[in-house]
Amino acid sequence: MGKDKLPSKPNIFLLLLFFLPGNTPLNTEPQYMVLVPFMIHTESHEKICIQLTHLNESVTLSATLEHQGENRSLIDDVVSEKDVFTCIPFSLPKSNSTSVAFLMVTVTGDTLQFKSRKSVLVKNSESLVFVQTDKPIYKPGQTVQFRIISLDTDFYPLNEKVESQLLVVSQDTIIVIIQTP
Ligand SMILES: *[C@@H]1O[C@H](CO)[C@@H](O)[C@H](O)[C@H]1NC(C)=O
Ligand SMILES: *[C@@H]1O[C@H](CO)[C@@H](O)[C@H](O)[C@H]1NC(C)=O
Ligand SMILES: *[C@@H]1O[C@H](CO)[C@@H](O)[C@H](O)[C@H]1NC(C)=O
Repeated sequence: MGKDKLPSKPNIFLLLLFFLPGNTPLNTEPQYMVLVPFMIHTESHEKICIQLTHLNESVTLSATLEHQGENRSLIDDVVSEKDVFTCIPFSLPKSNSTSVAFLMVTVTGDTLQFKSRKSVLVKNSESLVFVQTDKPIYKPGQTVQFRIISLDTDFYPLNEKVESQLLVVSQDTIIVIIQTP
């Protein structure tokens, strides 16, 4: 069994906590907390989580993701509970290169107002390509039987087109070149 490429990097999911007003530990002031991954992978399941506590009035909670000139609304809801914890799933389309997105969160009520705009890094999801061959070494003229499986960073199979090429380098070495677009 031949195997070519191994997973390169683990999918590091760093959470960024970016707003927590109030310095006293036991306060009952309205508080806001937003959790977003430090880095977002395209075409994968990402999440933003928002926690609101000690609200004293109903507010409109909205979150918008600004990426490559487009604004996408992730949530735009009226919240009338005192405490809320919500996670909104989203996914970004593949982009040409590593880019930056801006996440804007606003909480607006009659007396309360909170606005935050944070940048997050957007990276193309790296797929992991596994190649299985029926023999470790081939002789010129032999047919190479192989199977290609491509997985995303969450180890879900991807429906990705893979191009392959067989090269007979010498008497007993064959190189299989795999290219993903
Ligand atoms: C809610 O709490 C904030 C901060 O303590 C205060 O400024 C505001 O007046 C309160 N609003 C209401 C409707 O009580
Ligand atoms: C996206 O939102 C930002 C901030 O509200 C605004 O400055 C920008 O013009 C918007 N872009 C588009 C394409 O609507
Ligand atoms: C990405 O690249 C393709 C072709 O190389 C181009 O047509 C497209 O406009 C690019 N998209 C962005 C967002 O730069």
